[in-house]
Amino acid sequence: MNYRLSSHIRPTQYTIMLHPDLEAFTFYGEETIRLLVDTSTKKITLHAAELEIHSVKLTEKGSKKSLNATIVFDKEREEVTFVFEQEITPGEKDLMLTFNGILKDTMRGFYRSAYEVDGKQMYMAVTQLESTDARRVFPSFDEPSYKAIFNVSVKVPPDHIAISNTIEEEIVKQPDGYNIVKFSKTPKMSTYLLAVLVGKFDMVETKTAEGIAVRVFTTPGKKHQADFALQTAAKILSFYTTYFGYEYPLPVMDLIAVPDFDAGAMENWGAVTFRETALLIDAQNSSASNKQRVALVIAHELAHMWFGNLVTMEWWTHLWLNEGFACYIEYLATNAIFPQWKIWDQFIVAEHNDALTLDSLKNTHPIEIEVRNPSEIVEIFDQVSYAKGASIIHMLATYVGADTFRNGLQVYLKKHAYQNATTEDLWVAFEEVSGKPIAKIMHLWTSKSGYPVIHVEEKDNTVEFVQERFFSSPLASKTEKDMTIWQVPLQIQTATTKENILLSKKNQSIKKPLGWMKVNAQESSFVRVAYTKELLNLLENPVKEKHVGTIDRLGIIRDAFDLAYAGDTKTTESLAFVTSFTQETEYVVWLEIAGQMQRLASLLASDKEAMTEFHKFGKALFAKIAGKKTWKKKSEDSQADILLRSIVLYQFGMYGDASTIQTAKKLFDLFIHRQEAIDPDIRGVVYLLVAENGAEKEFEIFKKLYKNQSLHQEKDRIARAMTSFHTPEIIEKVLEWILSEDVRIQDKTRYIYVLFTNPYARVKTWKFVKTHWEYFFKQFKGSHGMSRLVEGAGELTTKKDAKDIDIFFKKNVTPEVARTIEQVKENILTRALWLRRERASVRKFLKNH
Ligand code: BES
Ligand code: ZN
Repeated sequence: MNYRLSSHIRPTQYTIMLHPDLEAFTFYGEETIRLLVDTSTKKITLHAAELEIHSVKLTEKGSKKSLNATIVFDKEREEVTFVFEQEITPGEKDLMLTFNGILKDTMRGFYRSAYEVDGKQMYMAVTQLESTDARRVFPSFDEPSYKAIFNVSVKVPPDHIAISNTIEEEIVKQPDGYNIVKFSKTPKMSTYLLAVLVGKFDMVETKTAEGIAVRVFTTPGKKHQADFALQTAAKILSFYTTYFGYEYPLPVMDLIAVPDFDAGAMENWGAVTFRETALLIDAQNSSASNKQRVALVIAHELAHMWFGNLVTMEWWTHLWLNEGFACYIEYLATNAIFPQWKIWDQFIVAEHNDALTLDSLKNTHPIEIEVRNPSEIVEIFDQVSYAKGASIIHMLATYVGADTFRNGLQVYLKKHAYQNATTEDLWVAFEEVSGKPIAKIMHLWTSKSGYPVIHVEEKDNTVEFVQERFFSSPLASKTEKDMTIWQVPLQIQTATTKENILLSKKNQSIKKPLGWMKVNAQESSFVRVAYTKELLNLLENPVKEKHVGTIDRLGIIRDAFDLAYAGDTKTTESLAFVTSFTQETEYVVWLEIAGQMQRLASLLASDKEAMTEFHKFGKALFAKIAGKKTWKKKSEDSQADILLRSIVLYQFGMYGDASTIQTAKKLFDLFIHRQEAIDPDIRGVVYLLVAENGAEKEFEIFKKLYKNQSLHQEKDRIARAMTSFHTPEIIEKVLEWILSEDVRIQDKTRYIYVLFTNPYARVKTWKFVKTHWEYFFKQFKGSHGMSRLVEGAGELTTKKDAKDIDIFFKKNVTPEVARTIEQVKENILTRALWLRRERASVRKFLKNH
């Protein structure tokens, strides 16, 4: 079925007045849509859902005559059709509507969010319209290519503040005691970018170097936590203005912390909304990693002011142009503002990893994929659009070089400003500035699923590269015959040289270099590399001696483990290889190793004996670096050192080092009984180790701490610990607690997700989700919360689990997670197969090491 609106009627301007009632949880609206009608018609169809429309009237410019219509809703298509008595002639018309709706607690459309002022519960009204929820707030042409100008006004109680995309133009007092706040008109933009908020807020303000006002809004009493965001946002906005070579077109850039928020943040033009954890920083209680997250999220959303808002994807099929791009450039901007963080290293271990993992499934999808209806659109906000999109941009940027890359972006933005664009348009811009066949190189990366593994083989005097699609499961590689030959820009690092080539054939050779070689230097291309045993062995010493760079060491070890997981090599070989990393000192490399070890632990979890051996192995692996790390910060510590400390201490404690656990317990006791604060950078480790080794008493302490805490980052840290207990009784309690009023709706499915990653809890968690399905379905249907709820089930390990999930979702059809469920089943079956194939040999290996 075609869900698109017909294109012979277009809006050019919306004049909207919204009046939320914060006590009755309803809203009233009036709007006039200025339309351009191309051909005579009796009908006008636009989007509307969950709205009651009271009146409709059509007038012609300059004419007093107005037409009335009957109103016909199509619930399935989320449309309303106005059928007029008489033909509407082509030309400019005004469609006037009045309507009302409900302020719900679903965090979509126009919704309510709870906060406290002086101990009293209050509600604010907030919009969240991406992707297709503008139609839940006002009847509209709710597709990204119907750009229009918006004149917004909001009716509010006099002691409340209204925020929208632009600045207030005037406030008009009403006879009924309310104020009507009128905002200046927006640039031409898509419906999903509109924002309206009404509530009580505190605010801090500054100006960018270019004179744009930047403001951060928090709920009352939290403005002391807004300073980091304010300074960071101002710098980033300036950075982009220069980098994109295009001025920010609005007079103000507002950033608003919303206590109930489904996503992390939303790029409404000029009025970006955030969950509190992604914006607020408390000087005493936020960690270095909290700060990093805030900077990245701000950089991500502000990038959208250009990429997404100024130039918008033509249709959701090109969503990656928004999200993949923002996900890449957030690192570029953060690196420019905080170079000391070495954030690009983290790009490789975070986004690049996520993309390689998801896109190695049979049930992945091409970056560009046809999507027709809202549930299909929701589905593609995934790591393919974000992380794979970012990774192939990273590959392209490396290939063309930083300056050409920036020039290409500038050409693209200038050419398509205030309009819509497609993937092809972006390639055209890069071709123009680089003179290289960019479309040809990039085409398959966005139009085909997956990516290649490059097999490296020695032949006499040459080295041959053979490409083949990589699947994380032998189940897929045996049945899927994908003959795609990608164009792969590839850098090859040897002890003395770096060579660049472009692979474009199934087999391709170069002259054999002397000594070792690291293929895909800096992991800049979106591929994996499979060395022969001999070539991998050649890398062992250079890794030990760190002749191979940080990112390359990370790449070597992740490919080694992932290839074994996929059945190409043996896990025991990667375990043997990882022992050459005991001298390692870099954070991102340890993070990768910790992640790989964690996956093994999760696979072996039900095998007690194997786990005992595995713990010994893990402890030995981390012993050296743990010995170097004290609990106390050192003044010379870099960001990476700070982050490394918590990884290492946690791993060492988790593998059972008694003195590490002892110290964690002691620090926790001192905190609980003597109010001695724990450094926020190690607080998470302390909490986790206490929980993993704790019981009822500790659980109750955490529960109370959570309830009394107002900093949401701290709440998340505590919740993370609460989901890490090992005993069945406590896990039951945690599950009940997640459903209780103590936990906001925005956090429920996130905590469920984390519980799935706890091997002691995963079976119980799946049972719980099934038992409470009716609640979850009602609350999260059609939203992103839904995929977070089921995604974690991929941690299960038996064929029976996969079957059970299959049967459950056949009965409880949930289209917006259809692909996620296929991925979950695929992951479970791959894990089951790994256990059958590898468990015995891994066990034996662990016994002997
Ligand atoms: N446009 C998205 C927010 C969004 C996501 C709206 C899904 C509707 C559906 C926003 O730009 C975004 O990507 N936010 C991320 C944070 C970012 C730093 C990755 C998020 O919410 O996780
Ligand atoms: Zn985004």
